[in-house]
Amino acid sequence: MPCYRLVCLYASVVLVPACAKKRLTPEQALNFAQQVQQDVVSGLQKTLLEKVETLGAAGALSFCREHVKDYGQQKMAEWLARAQELPGIQDFRFRRISLRNRNPANAPDNEQRQILEQWQNGKASPVLYENDGKFFVMQPIYIQQPLCLKCHGDEKTIDPKAVAAIRQHYPGDKATGYRLGDLRGAFIVEFKTR
Ligand code: HEC
Repeated sequence: MPCYRLVCLYASVVLVPACAKKRLTPEQALNFAQQVQQDVVSGLQKTLLEKVETLGAAGALSFCREHVKDYGQQKMAEWLARAQELPGIQDFRFRRISLRNRNPANAPDNEQRQILEQWQNGKASPVLYENDGKFFVMQPIYIQQPLCLKCHGDEKTIDPKAVAAIRQHYPGDKATGYRLGDLRGAFIVEFKTR
């Protein structure tokens, strides 16, 4: 969106660029991250639900392994374009992490691990922090629907074919044994500012 300030000059009206000195505020960063998470997670959950209903948990799991990557890339491109409308954002990306991650690529770093541990012992609320010149907005992800338990619940209650698929594709999986209401991990939006 173009960003101009209206200036009255000798009775004529001119538009003067006013973006140059604007800086991203913490509220803007948090608000933006919240919009990204809502959009990305709701789209993913909709597909998961459809696939579990049509293919069963094991089929949906195999489908989602590929889909999560493609969908992530597509959404990253969409939100990168919107991130550029905000003052100064650069190098935007998002990811999901968990203390009990399924995909080894979704492990937290030390800082993130500490925040997740604090969340587990108390109230989880969104955090904005800076590390090494980069900003991170971390927001909790909960197990809020029975759907999640089909692939993250107690192994005894998961479809045995889904358990076999999990063991095959994710030999180091730590992401079962959850119950409704549990903290599952975090959605992280990362960016630099000019
Ligand atoms: C059909 C099976 C399936 C269902 C249902 C499912 N997940 Fe997952 N989940 C997976 C798989 C497979 C991965 C690993 C994806 C990857 O390779 O990045 C994963 C990864 C995740 C991660 C990233 C961290 C990690 O462990 O790698 C989070 C967070 C997550 N799921 C939350 C949820 C939530 C919340 C729900 C319910 C809305 C849910 N999942 C439902 C299969 C499922």
